[in-house]
Amino acid sequence: MKEQLEKIYESAVAELQNAASINDVAQIRDTYLSRKGQLNEIKKGLKDLSDEDKKVVGSLANQISQKLEEALREKHELFYKKELDEKLAKERIDVTLTGKYVPHGRIHPITSTINEITTIFQTLGFSVVPSELSPEVETEYYNFDMLNVPKDHPARDVQDTFYTSLAKNVVLRSQTSGAQIHAMECQNPPIRVIAPGRVYRNENINARKNNFFHQIEGLYVDKDITFGDLKGVLNEFIRIYFGESRPTRFRNSFFPFTEPSAEIDVQCIMCQGKGCRICSGTGWLEILGAGMVDPNVLRGVGIDPDVYSGFAFGMGVERLAMLKYAIDDIRLFFNNDERFLKQF
Ligand code: DAH
Repeated sequence: MKEQLEKIYESAVAELQNAASINDVAQIRDTYLSRKGQLNEIKKGLKDLSDEDKKVVGSLANQISQKLEEALREKHELFYKKELDEKLAKERIDVTLTGKYVPHGRIHPITSTINEITTIFQTLGFSVVPSELSPEVETEYYNFDMLNVPKDHPARDVQDTFYTSLAKNVVLRSQTSGAQIHAMECQNPPIRVIAPGRVYRNENINARKNNFFHQIEGLYVDKDITFGDLKGVLNEFIRIYFGESRPTRFRNSFFPFTEPSAEIDVQCIMCQGKGCRICSGTGWLEILGAGMVDPNVLRGVGIDPDVYSGFAFGMGVERLAMLKYAIDDIRLFFNNDERFLKQF
């Protein structure tokens, strides 16, 4: 039995020498030291020996177990360290390396201008009409007829307005003013709404004009609304949007759906009022049209003009953004040049 034990030990040590991984070490432990392992099998046979032999062989078996255990542990630790080192080397991160460039988008300047203007009007008590009351594809009925625009008005001409092939009277809206009609059809006064959105015009494109752009329509209808209210609200809007120091002027004007009508100009930021290409040498840029809602328009939607009055306005978003940020070409908003968009 002694010899047997020594043989077992030798073969275990030899196997351990050839072991190449933690797994191999575990397997060797299993073969020799587990409950069903070779050493245990020998220990089971001890009971058949004389007391004297039992002592000798028993203690030898224990010694061998201990030595083997020790050798296995050493080997295990060796491989454990080795495998850990390999893993750490593989997963090593060099925190001093420069990061990967991940480009991220940002809000388009037109969107942020619309958001800014919307917030100003919300603080002045206006709410935004739901989008279904402000469609980009409109009938002539809402884009012109209900806004008191005469049948022979030049704006109706295909030279100015895009007609669709959907039906004879369906257009890409040329103004957001149709939203006024939708709003008044759906709601009784008091009405205090704005409607931001895109409009389309058959224009020759240049630095000042594009064939689509954005407007924000506004409408306030209630009892006793006067031109003074119109001036008060719009002056307050301009003061908040541009700050105190930007010269503005009211000019009288004409729109079929308002009487009286006005336009507001803001001093050209590009030339500080001296006159340049952008303001056609006038020193001023028009930012909005406005006026008291024409009684015909109120009557058309069933609102009694003897009881109610109102004012309306429509402002050009690109103009307002150009004047705030000194952008001298409207096309910059639409050709998606990252160098331009990045600045906002
Ligand atoms: N719709 C006009 C345009 O596109 C702007 C406008 C003028 C809107 C007067 C209004 C208004 O609501 O009252 O030129």
